[in-house]
Amino acid sequence: MQIRPGIHWVGVRDPDLEIFDVVIPTEYGTTYNSYVLEADEPVLIDGVKKEFEEEWFAKLEQVIDLAELRHVVVNHTEPDHSGSIKELLRRAPHVIVHGTRPALQFLSEQVNMDFQKRIVGENDVLDLGNRRLRFIMAPFMHWPDTMWTFLEGEGVLFTCDGFGSHFCFPEGKILASQQEVDFTGAVEYYFEKIMGPFRGKVQEALPKLVGLELDLIATGHGPILDVDVERFIKLYDEWSRVGHSPERKRIVVAYASAYGHTKRMAELIAEGAAGNPLVDVLLLDAAQADPDAVAEAVSSFDALIVGSPTINADAVYPVWRVLEAVSAITAKGKAAAVFGNYGWSGEAVALLEERLEKMRLVVGHPPLKVRFGLTAEDEERCRAMGAAVAESIT
Ligand code: FEO
Repeated sequence: MQIRPGIHWVGVRDPDLEIFDVVIPTEYGTTYNSYVLEADEPVLIDGVKKEFEEEWFAKLEQVIDLAELRHVVVNHTEPDHSGSIKELLRRAPHVIVHGTRPALQFLSEQVNMDFQKRIVGENDVLDLGNRRLRFIMAPFMHWPDTMWTFLEGEGVLFTCDGFGSHFCFPEGKILASQQEVDFTGAVEYYFEKIMGPFRGKVQEALPKLVGLELDLIATGHGPILDVDVERFIKLYDEWSRVGHSPERKRIVVAYASAYGHTKRMAELIAEGAAGNPLVDVLLLDAAQADPDAVAEAVSSFDALIVGSPTINADAVYPVWRVLEAVSAITAKGKAAAVFGNYGWSGEAVALLEERLEKMRLVVGHPPLKVRFGLTAEDEERCRAMGAAVAESIT
């Protein structure tokens, strides 16, 4: 299907997908969008998931003889897009693959075979003769390998995951303008799940679109944005600003409590931190919060303080779930602290500290453990911990 003159969608639909990336429910299935650009030197932009490669090759070969294909652009190499590239390289070993340094490294390790490659950087151009592609770096949207590809003079931007949605459009209706339902919620859900941990990176990438006069965003998943392009860019800007205030710092105090003592510690730590006028504090009861609330809470912070009682010589599951939701990439180097109430041995605090350090957060404040009921002195130690962590980041 041509989405613009000489630009063919050769993607596939996956309406039955229920879980993406092991953990993300996908209520509306998804699509893996792939494009062929006609030119003096034809180019393929992104592939599809391996399971769909035969369907993909059938579509691909309807629009181009693989012997004529000259270039492949990989905007991102998560296997839902790169899974079919190995077979393509077998069938068309003459192509040159263009991608960022990490993308080509990842792809090399995925295909385990030699291929012709060209590492590209910010504003590098691929001259196709009668058309020109320009590469825009968008690292960590949502892998370190990610870039966008701009078709100069025609206002078309190929973004792979960026601005995409797990929304399987009806057969033959691949454009946003053809949808009969509003899929904005699916774009937002996708943003939250995939880009949410990288809001700062989204903020770094969006200004690069200013002045491009975009007419169409060819995403890697879901409907191709041929309408409302500006609206979706503004929404990405709005969503990625949540929790970001350069003037104020954000501390998340996340805890679970068996008999209320760890909860009391959390409240006092939050109180101590909130005494700092430059700090916003979010107190999160991990045992009560749903997974979306946990993910939202830890999607952006300047300091993370986690507390757990010790049960069965361990921290409790709701608290581990909080740490699972933390991005080890964006949280690296951020301040952290641990606390907990216990009765006998109190292993939870040390285990949490170890995990945070392995995630390369900086546990700069000594762990705070309190056995059974809190004394007035314990209460003061809790407030002091909150205040100290706040001071360390302001
Ligand atoms: Fe759609 Fe990050 O892969």
